[in-house]
Amino acid sequence: MMHQTDQAVVQTDFEKILAVAGCRHHFPLLRQRVNGKPLVYLDNAATSQKPQVVIDAILKFYQEENSNIHRGVHALSERATQLYESARDRAREFINAAESKEIVYVRGTTEGINLVAYSYGRPNVGAGDEVVISALEHHSNIVPWQILCSEKGARLRVIPVNDAGELLLDEYERLLNRRTKIVALTHVSNALGTINPVREMIATAHSHGIPVLIDGAQAVPHMKVDVQDLDCDFYAFSAHKMFGPTGVGILYGKSRMLEAMPPYQGGGDMIKSVTYEKTTYNDLPHKFEAGTPNIAGSIGLGAAIEYIMKLDMDAVAAVEHELLEYATSALLSIPKVRIIGTARHKAAVISFTIDGIHPHDIGTILDQEGIAIRTGHHCAQPLMQRFGLPATARASFAFYNTKEEVDSLVRGIHKVIEVLG
Ligand code: ALA
Repeated sequence: MMHQTDQAVVQTDFEKILAVAGCRHHFPLLRQRVNGKPLVYLDNAATSQKPQVVIDAILKFYQEENSNIHRGVHALSERATQLYESARDRAREFINAAESKEIVYVRGTTEGINLVAYSYGRPNVGAGDEVVISALEHHSNIVPWQILCSEKGARLRVIPVNDAGELLLDEYERLLNRRTKIVALTHVSNALGTINPVREMIATAHSHGIPVLIDGAQAVPHMKVDVQDLDCDFYAFSAHKMFGPTGVGILYGKSRMLEAMPPYQGGGDMIKSVTYEKTTYNDLPHKFEAGTPNIAGSIGLGAAIEYIMKLDMDAVAAVEHELLEYATSALLSIPKVRIIGTARHKAAVISFTIDGIHPHDIGTILDQEGIAIRTGHHCAQPLMQRFGLPATARASFAFYNTKEEVDSLVRGIHKVIEVLG
C-alpha cells in the first residue's frame, strides 16, 4: 500500500510534469507558420527557442539598464554590474558550483573548451604526453586538443564506441596512463543522444590523478547537473541551447585549477595593474574575462536559468524521455528508417537515415511541411565515419515539443518516402 507521503511526492511530481508540458505558450516563436504549415521545431540540439521572460530581460536591459560593468561609479553602471554578477550567481546555483568565482563567462561551450586547452593545456601538456577524448565528441571538443597536441608533440587518444553509440569503458581504462594529462568528454552526444556515465568516468580519471573537462552543452537543457557531485574539474556549456541568447556561455572550473592557470586573453578588466614592464592579473573569475563581455547576453542567461529552475529539471527530463520513447517507437515502425544511436541512456535526440534517400533531401522535404530538423554530420565527422555514414537526419527535442509534433514528423517521413523512396 502506498504511504501517504509517497502519494504526495507522486502527486507533486505529476503536477510538475504537467506544468512543464504546459509551458509551450511561453515561447512566442513556436506560434508561427513555416511554408504555410504550423512550425514543428525539432532542431533543439542546434539551438533552443527563447521564452518571453528571456526576450523581455534582454529588451529591458537595453531600454533601461544599458551601461558598461565594473567601470563606472554612476548609477547605471552599478546597476548593470549588479545584474551581470547576479546572473553569475544564478549560474553557480544552477550547476551547484561551490563559489561564484568558479563561474567564468565565455562566448559559449567552444570558447570554454579552447580556454582550457590554452590555459591549462599549454603549461601542462608536453612532448610525448597524451590527451584522451571520446569517439562521441563534437568538433569543438576535438580540434582545440588536436591543435594543442600538434603544437606540443603530444598524442590525442580516443575512447571507442560500440554499435549502439556507447563508450567502451574497459577501453577507456586501458587508455589512461601516466602520460595522460587531461580527459575531455561530452556529457551528452549531440549527434546520437548518448548520455555518458561521466560521474564514474571522472572518478576513474581521478584515481590516476588526471583532471577532467566535461562538455555539457547538450546536458544542461535536459537534466539536473551538479558539478560538485560529478567532481569534474571543468564543465562548459552554452546559453543558447538552454533557452538563453547566443554568444554567451559558462566555463566552470574548480577554483584551485583556475587559480593556477595563466589568462587566456589580455585586455581590460582582467588586470589589477599595468605598467610597460609588468601586469598584475585580476582575481577570479575576472582574470579570464578580458574586454567588455556580452553583458546583455549574460543577463539573458540569468533569466533563462531562473526560468528553467522554476520548471524543475527532473520534470523536464521526464517530459523529454516520454517524447523520446514515443518518437523512437513511431520512427521504428516506418519501413526503411534506421535509428543511429541506440544507447540505453539517451537524451531526446534521434539521428536517423532512410534507405536510399540522402539526409539533405529528407530535411528539405520536411521543411516544406514546416518541420525543422538538422541534417549533415552534426559537427561530428569522425563519429559519422565510425558508423560508415556521411550524414544523418536528426530530430532533437525540448520539453515544449509535443506528441502531436512527433505525429507530424512521422507523416512528413512517410511523405519523403512517397516522393523519393
Ligand atoms: N552543436 C550544435 C548541433 O549539434 C550546433 O547542432
